[in-house]
Amino acid sequence: MLEEKASAGETMNDRVFYVTTPIYYPSDKLHIGHAYTTVAADCMARYKRMRGYDVFFLTGSDEHGQKIERKAAERGMDPQSYVDKIVASFQQLWERLLITNNDFIRTTEPRHEKAVQALFQKLYEQGDIYKSYYEGLYCTPCEAFWLERQLVDGNCPDCGRPVEHVKEESYFFRLSKYQDRLLQYIEENPGFIQPASRRNEMINFIKSGLEDLCVSRTSFKWGVPVPFAPDHVVYVWFDALVNYLSALGWQDGDQRFDHYWPHAVHLMAKDIVRFHSVIWPIILMAAGLPLPRTIFGHGWLLLEGGKISKSKGNVVDPMILIDRYGVDAVRYYLLRELPYGADSYYSEDDLINRINTDLANDLGNLISRTLGMVKKYQGGVLAAPGPAEGPDGDLINCAREVKVELEQQLERMDFSSALAAIWKLVRRANRYVDETTPWVLARDPDQKERLATVLYNLSEAVRILTIWCSPFMPVFPERVFAQFGIADQPELHSWDSTEDWGRMPVNLRMEPGPGIFPRIMVESEAESQSEKEGKTAEKKPAKESKEKAPEEKPQITIDEFARLDLRVALVKSAEKIKGADRLLKLEVELGEETRTIVAGIAQHYTPESLVGKSVVVVANLAPVKLRGVTSYGMILAASEGEALGILTVDREVPPGSRVK
Ligand code: ME8
Ligand code: MG
Repeated sequence: MLEEKASAGETMNDRVFYVTTPIYYPSDKLHIGHAYTTVAADCMARYKRMRGYDVFFLTGSDEHGQKIERKAAERGMDPQSYVDKIVASFQQLWERLLITNNDFIRTTEPRHEKAVQALFQKLYEQGDIYKSYYEGLYCTPCEAFWLERQLVDGNCPDCGRPVEHVKEESYFFRLSKYQDRLLQYIEENPGFIQPASRRNEMINFIKSGLEDLCVSRTSFKWGVPVPFAPDHVVYVWFDALVNYLSALGWQDGDQRFDHYWPHAVHLMAKDIVRFHSVIWPIILMAAGLPLPRTIFGHGWLLLEGGKISKSKGNVVDPMILIDRYGVDAVRYYLLRELPYGADSYYSEDDLINRINTDLANDLGNLISRTLGMVKKYQGGVLAAPGPAEGPDGDLINCAREVKVELEQQLERMDFSSALAAIWKLVRRANRYVDETTPWVLARDPDQKERLATVLYNLSEAVRILTIWCSPFMPVFPERVFAQFGIADQPELHSWDSTEDWGRMPVNLRMEPGPGIFPRIMVESEAESQSEKEGKTAEKKPAKESKEKAPEEKPQITIDEFARLDLRVALVKSAEKIKGADRLLKLEVELGEETRTIVAGIAQHYTPESLVGKSVVVVANLAPVKLRGVTSYGMILAASEGEALGILTVDREVPPGSRVK
């Protein structure tokens, strides 16, 4: 299968992809900075699988070292129970984020410890590790050794925190011996350290001279024992880096090692590029193993007050964001927001803005408009297109160009530019609707074929966009495929099926469902929506609201009125929404279907008093999220000043009945 898919110039072996994240310290719960790296790696893994690659995706936890030992002691726990608990929370987070890692390596596992010891022993036996005495400085939060001259204002040059004086017998690794070989390798392999800015930093760092590295400690116990000197534990970075080998079964004669290892791509933020591009390659060179293909150092997500960091306390919990906004939205935000190689400030307002603009307005709207028009003008059955004309060619060309650009950006792991490329087609397709005015075509029976072409092109654009988005946002595609009636045709979900325009089948039944990307209401909008739903105007001065006549609205035609889908709905249940004193969450029955509607009437009705009432709802209002609850419609109510009453029907009609 792999051979079949390999295109010209690629051998079967090129179609293997081994992607890793750092193994994170269980010194605390993870935050959105860690989520970024793991989501980026997941996006790559999903993309490569879609391209037919044989992918191995690894993440894990870095559980040894002085920092962890101290953290556990602070909590009065033994280190193993302490890390067990936190690592379980890592795994839960990755499940919530739909991370598709093939393995999760813990450095406390025997398979890993065994590999660390074997490597340490080998390097010792060949004379690359030797015993000496270390006296110097150590940054425990970074688990890094420093020289006096490297400090900045007497503090750790990486994190700015105070360093400790360390004086102990240690084993040393001969970094200096390999300095020139490493420099030559980096210079001859421009793709090895990416982006280029990080590569230049590393070249300068190496040129400034490498000292031999202290690779064992005796002043604490929580680590892998040095096999021939059990009072020493292996330095936590030597231990940690080996995870990339041990997870593949290096040492166990596992075939996966030879198969995947030469294709390794290590993803991380810039804070640990130095460990990966100096210490790690030299360990591998000394061991006679191939080097990884790429070390990629992305930027940092920053919070006001500096980088998000566990020890600084300015942490943003990804679980809370997922609960509030959904997995797709959080993943989209992270991948779209952090520019290639650079830093970016995190802000929840920006996250909401991305959801409302890019997802709800641009993409969500394109999807729902397309489905809505196929339903309205073609009875939900997409018809065969006629000949291309007008802007059709431009739309199709745009898709072709975007695909090329998207693939290029993904290859260089520029996720933000990749999404920006996809959105070129989203916007082009929305413009296509405005240019072709299907609602005008629909009025003219002679334009039936033209209308079919337009709706076909829009449906095909949505199908292609959905496929391209799926490595970034894995949840919504299934819903789109279902609504477009192609859920059971996986060949129409494949990356290859976006190569040529026109794979969307015709004569299938489409089923528009609830909106794919609901808008997130910001507090100020929620207020005015509640007002529209009948909330008293208590925020305004009473005088003003009395004097002001109801707002005059422009005249509308009966057709315009008919665009409202008003229905009778039976209230099945009602409850208060925590933290929102005006809002009630109602479950209402509309004929066959039950939906959730949020109404700003809590100050006028108790939940119990509403159950069993037949109310009138706007059933085709775009869904909105209010305080974490998605509302699929709006209850009609009349209000004036303090008075408010909801609309009901004055005799019994079945739920779902139209109001006109
Ligand atoms: O360094 N922005 O673990 P760690 C972007 N155990 N990415 C961030 C980030 C932020 N604000 N904060 C953290 C370690 N990250 C070692 C790794 S690997 C053999 C051993 C991400 O828990 C980013 O990938 O401190 C960064 O490199 C990593 O978490 C550091 O995680
Ligand atoms: Mg760190």
